[in-house]
Amino acid sequence: MTRRTVLSGIRATGRLHLGNYLGAVKGMLALQDSNEYETFYMVADLHTITVPYDAKKLPQAVRDVVLDYLAAGLDPAKSTIFIQSHVPQHSELANLFSTVVTVARMNHLPTYKEKIKQYPHNVTMALLNYPVLMAADILIYKADSVPVGIDQEPHLEVAREIARKMNEKYGLNFPEPQRFATKGEYVPSLTGTGKMSKSVEGSSILLTDDLETIQKRLAAVPTDVGKGASVPAEGGVAALLTFVELFQGEGKRKEYEEEYMVSGIKYKVLKDELAEAIYKELEPLQKRRKAIEIDGNTVEKILKEGALRARKEAQKTLQEVKLAMGLI
Ligand code: ADP
Ligand code: TRP
Repeated sequence: MTRRTVLSGIRATGRLHLGNYLGAVKGMLALQDSNEYETFYMVADLHTITVPYDAKKLPQAVRDVVLDYLAAGLDPAKSTIFIQSHVPQHSELANLFSTVVTVARMNHLPTYKEKIKQYPHNVTMALLNYPVLMAADILIYKADSVPVGIDQEPHLEVAREIARKMNEKYGLNFPEPQRFATKGEYVPSLTGTGKMSKSVEGSSILLTDDLETIQKRLAAVPTDVGKGASVPAEGGVAALLTFVELFQGEGKRKEYEEEYMVSGIKYKVLKDELAEAIYKELEPLQKRRKAIEIDGNTVEKILKEGALRARKEAQKTLQEVKLAMGLI
């Protein structure tokens, strides 16, 4: 039986938070631990540099994502773990893919529009090409399943379009990759508006936060009087209830919803219990991270072996595409 293939990656733009964990990493773990998939997990350093960044800090930032991956349970015995730029075939394939993608299509992507609003002085080719490189990341392994949060769906749509065009035009056999969704595909921001994100101050809980920090962060979530005719569908209270559901279960959420409409919620109690529940899930990750941090060589070895394995697979697809496109 040939196993199906999975690829995912996260940019090195800061320490991982609960959104990254629940939306992406948990899916990565689920697929890694099922026997049906061959899994490739990378740190997307080339995507990291599509917006302004500090070159001196990049190596540590990349390493931090690798440590967070390993701490969360990504296992080099089961998954190929590597750094995107260590496999130059991704960039080469992206270049070939760019021949079937129009500038107009890239210009209209919501993710691109957001980024150029955020960085008006950085409207670069790399940013425009972001989804094409991401399509190459995925399709170079012929991955058909991609564990990422819901915000990445427009990029997957582009990857599917590219797969279709390459297949039609050059008779190739790329799969049309689908998103592997988790229960936490959209983790709300602690501010009560939008999603939890590295780039929004005060929006997140990091995987490395201790209990006291989690308590402090939850204390800052805006609430209301705790009682009303209907449970709020958005804002801080809605966000808290989503976290309750994700970390304490649906039953607990229902209890709070009832309290809201009858006796009223005591947010101090809710936040304290929630902080404990979140910390309980993160504590084993933090312990594992400390143990790995001490042994620097292990990480180097994992990345070296990962790059070798990934390059071997990537090269096969690249050759196939070059042959089909008349380049060899
Ligand atoms: P950020 O938005 O914090 O910069 P990234 O864009 O680097 O995070 O996202 C890395 C991965 O984590 C992607 O798969 C993305 O979909 C997922 N992700 C990020 N934020 C969330 C969130 N709030 N809820 C669910 N998934 C998320
Ligand atoms: N764009 C993804 C993000 O913002 C990172 C990424 C790059 C990725 N290449 C990928 C995710 C390939 C999945 C598959 O997090």
